[in-house]
Amino acid sequence: MALNSINPTQTKAWSKLTKHFETIKDGHMKTWFKENSNRADEFTIKWEDFYVDFSKNRITSETLELFKELAEELKLDDAISKYFQGDIINHTEGRAVLHTALRAPADAEVIIDGANVMPEIYKVKGLIKTFSDAIINGTKKGYTNKPFTDIVNIGIGGSDLGPAMVVDSLSFYANHLKPHYVSNVDGDHVNEVLKRLNPETTLFVIVSKTFTTQETLSNATTIKEWFLKYGTQADVAKHFVAVSTNTSKVEAFGIVPSNIFPMWDWVGGRFSLWSAVGLSISLAVGYEHFDSLLKGAHKMDTHFKEEKFETNIPVVLAFLSVWYNNFFKAESEAVIPYTQYLNQFATYLQQAIMESNGKSIDRSGNQVDYQTGNLVWGEPGTNSQHAFFQLIHQGTKLIPADFIGFTKSLHGNKDHQDKLISNFFAQTEALLNGKTEAEVRAEGTPSEIVPFKVFEGNKPTNTIFIKQLTPESLGKLIAMYEHKIFVQGVVWNVFSYDQFGVELGKQLATKILDEINTGSVTSHDASTINLLNYYEKNS
Ligand code: F6P
Repeated sequence: MALNSINPTQTKAWSKLTKHFETIKDGHMKTWFKENSNRADEFTIKWEDFYVDFSKNRITSETLELFKELAEELKLDDAISKYFQGDIINHTEGRAVLHTALRAPADAEVIIDGANVMPEIYKVKGLIKTFSDAIINGTKKGYTNKPFTDIVNIGIGGSDLGPAMVVDSLSFYANHLKPHYVSNVDGDHVNEVLKRLNPETTLFVIVSKTFTTQETLSNATTIKEWFLKYGTQADVAKHFVAVSTNTSKVEAFGIVPSNIFPMWDWVGGRFSLWSAVGLSISLAVGYEHFDSLLKGAHKMDTHFKEEKFETNIPVVLAFLSVWYNNFFKAESEAVIPYTQYLNQFATYLQQAIMESNGKSIDRSGNQVDYQTGNLVWGEPGTNSQHAFFQLIHQGTKLIPADFIGFTKSLHGNKDHQDKLISNFFAQTEALLNGKTEAEVRAEGTPSEIVPFKVFEGNKPTNTIFIKQLTPESLGKLIAMYEHKIFVQGVVWNVFSYDQFGVELGKQLATKILDEINTGSVTSHDASTINLLNYYEKNS
């Protein structure tokens, strides 16, 4: 097995962290800020265009020291090397995990099964560039010789969320092609999209690593049938392309080999936006921007691989997340981007984080007796301030939060930007300091109302402040979370790159569909039988 299997809770460092936790768990961050005038600088990492201030956390310098000891005991260094060099760290599926190779420079060498995969990666990048250039500049046209106006990505999970999030996030950089994403097997989804499309000017990109996914194949079939009401079978080749590892299944679906963009089994679905799965990104914002996204991710890869742990952004963020999850017993964490462009960022992270580390069996095959995977959620600020922030400020749950902001807006409206950033700073300050009873009284609040207006404060936040939202900085940000996920998986001693937990529901759905089609309900629990009967009567 490529990665070690060490129960983190049995390490010396974990025992020390447990004792240390007892000594600081009731401390208030605002006291530590008063005691240490250097705290903000001490706990800030400046790297490239990133300013990461993690000083508003319930940690002292000893906490970080102890996490460093933990990382050494767990041989994190060795795990990082194995991750980048293509060892089979996805042990349960017998695969390497090499999305990092997709953004490495052409002269890098990444060996899998004795062969360097970089030439193959760059060959596919070449195909992506040529194809997207031809669609964007109109040299490739639809079946009635009109240039394309719309592109539809048909995929789900990693074959949808990553590209959809990036395209939405980079909409400032978009060209004239209108992107659409069809994912849900809910027929209303596909029909809502179709009603806005002209078959003569729409390109369909079917994305499925396995090409066996029910949702994607159903949507692709429905769309092809819709298209054939207008165009002919021969026209399909002009309007349908696919991204997959399963070329025989793609061809069986009716897509010509020259319209297939390959990918590889060493790219996990939720980490695949850097591969041809990102074709819709390259189409929507152009290949140069797609390539900048990859270059940004590569810069973060290098930082993660080479930087010492105490100033390594993904490592520090992972330590903090473990600290709250396992010691403070925090149930979830929030990601709050202060830009509307990152509207879909938390949704994307939910798959990346929860499909990776939502595991309860350790790398020795034993049930863990400690908490693993975080629940992650969030919405952009300032909207979220007017929605769920009440609970973060005054609720009973501890919710550590990442605040992501940009020093410059893209449209340059300074008035709005100053207001946005004032809110961005104000929230983390309020979460840190809270408001004491004395302060509330001093405002002249009637005595019986005072308790309701007190804020405890001491709520942890990370401020990830980036110069501007560009394809490159977005690439860095996504890769930052990917590596945070990796570090947490190493610490929790789980396999982060399989997803067997999604299989059972899929199998049962296939069985139930069969029963709906044949009308013969077999063995189910009483609740499911009632539901099936109710559906049969009412559908
Ligand atoms: O449902 C889980 C999953 O396997 C994801 O991991 C994956 O991203 C998604 O389904 C889609 O899979 P595919 O790209 O093979 O259609």
